[in-house]
Amino acid sequence: MSTVTIAVFGATGNQGGAVVDALLDHEARVRALVRDPQSDRAQALAARGVELAVVRADDPASLAAALTAVEGFYFMTPEANSLEEIEVEIRIGTALVDAAADASVPHVVFNSVFGADRETGVPHHDSKHWVEEYLRKSGLRATMVRPTAFMENFTSVMAPSLEHGEIVLRLPLPEDVALKMISIRDIGRVAAALLLGTAEAPGGAVELVGDELTGPRIAAAFGARAGLPARYEALPLSVLPNEFDQAMFRQFAEAAEHPSDLAVVRSIEPATLDLAEWIRATSWTAPTNAAGS
Ligand SMILES: NC(=O)c1ccc[n+]([C@@H]2O[C@H](COP(=O)([O-])OP(=O)(O)OC[C@H]3O[C@@H](n4cnc5c(N)ncnc54)[C@H](OP(=O)(O)O)[C@@H]3O)[C@@H](O)[C@H]2O)c1
Repeated sequence: MSTVTIAVFGATGNQGGAVVDALLDHEARVRALVRDPQSDRAQALAARGVELAVVRADDPASLAAALTAVEGFYFMTPEANSLEEIEVEIRIGTALVDAAADASVPHVVFNSVFGADRETGVPHHDSKHWVEEYLRKSGLRATMVRPTAFMENFTSVMAPSLEHGEIVLRLPLPEDVALKMISIRDIGRVAAALLLGTAEAPGGAVELVGDELTGPRIAAAFGARAGLPARYEALPLSVLPNEFDQAMFRQFAEAAEHPSDLAVVRSIEPATLDLAEWIRATSWTAPTNAAGS
């Protein structure tokens, strides 16, 4: 095992968990900052040789102690769906930056979000922009990784349905807009490469994108896998239940106009999955519970 120790905040979650997977693949030592060391997910990490450091986000001493003697620190900030949760998100992010500065961590990788180099008016993206700014001002060596939409959303909130023998994808996105997307596995792989110093992000930031496809092409990729015809329906933004999501989908459309970092991501992780590869890798199968099928 390598002598390099990397601290990870969010290790029991999706993205942090993928970072741990990739770090362990490279035989790095991993220290997970967890709030509940007895949780099933924390215990599963410990069983894989991950050191657990118990922290409370509102206890700076616990955070700084957890970050002593590490070569790198990865953190993400938790999901926020209300202004109160945004405040918590910013508080956690800035507390982690302060702790990293107290502990003089040599390199910090912040898992932000696409577009967070600027204010976009998306509340839970601007929160990450502010954490980025706070991290930049800390004087720490920092790299921002900015994931686009998770491909995994196609198994939950953005899942295609099967209707009358046809794969149907409906999203509140105009049909000529290419959605940028990335698999959670590859978020972990890119972040790990940056933390271990086997790659660098030009300018200290990289938008994490593994594919960029319009709705009709996304639907076609699922249809091809299922061996079924497929169609896409663009929905109005008003189908989304809250303003946060509406602002985010507006931002998906705007992001399509910004230059893509696909080539940079592939230079860091050549095996980055495109959507068709992700569909194969995850053994996605057509849903069976849809109307008329
Ligand atoms: N969905 C998308 O397409 C997408 C795209 C780009 C960016 N994002 C952003 O990604 C983030 C969510 O990432 P994820 O899916 O990896 O999250 P996740 O799976 O929900 O994991 C959250 C992690 O944060 C930890 N955590 C939360 N609150 C904590 C606290 N107060 N103290 C200590 N640990 C705490 C959780 O620990 P426990 O196990 O103890 O709960 C868990 O490890 C959001 O900020 C979202 O905006 C999402």
